Amino acid sequence: MNKSERYEKLYGELAALLAGESDLVANAANMSALIWQSLPGLSWAGFYLMKDGEIVLGPFQGKPACVRISTGRGVCGTVASTGKSLIVPDVRAFPGHIACDAASRSEIVLPLFREGMLIALLDLDSPEVGRFDEEDQRGLESLVALFLENLA
Ligand code: SME
Repeated sequence: MNKSERYEKLYGELAALLAGESDLVANAANMSALIWQSLPGLSWAGFYLMKDGEIVLGPFQGKPACVRISTGRGVCGTVASTGKSLIVPDVRAFPGHIACDAASRSEIVLPLFREGMLIALLDLDSPEVGRFDEEDQRGLESLVALFLENLA
């Protein structure tokens, strides 16, 4: 299966998994688990939730992670400030990267907006340098759009 086929399959599976449920935490938990088991080369997959202007750990799969991140700090904090998806091919070359897991070498973070407000971030980490590309970004953005459509 190539990357775009993998994301197409994942989209169908996510649609089935979220159908009829609008709870953010339940859906974020299942979406993390689905991504974790479907995409190769991941060391972490999950959500950070915006709470009172702070980025707080949400449902995820992988090793325990940093609980609170200040806006503007690290990859997640940068995405929370800019509101734009970010691919970091080599986290060691990213100033301020927060190393929750020393094995993480590349990362992609996407913002989730609801009614114009940033509500969460989707964060994927990999032990491989350059694991994520624009195709991953597009694929993950469509999964995020589906997730947002299902919220109450
Ligand atoms: N590396 C992230 C922190 C979160 S973990 O990767 C799960 C960052 O710099 O924002």
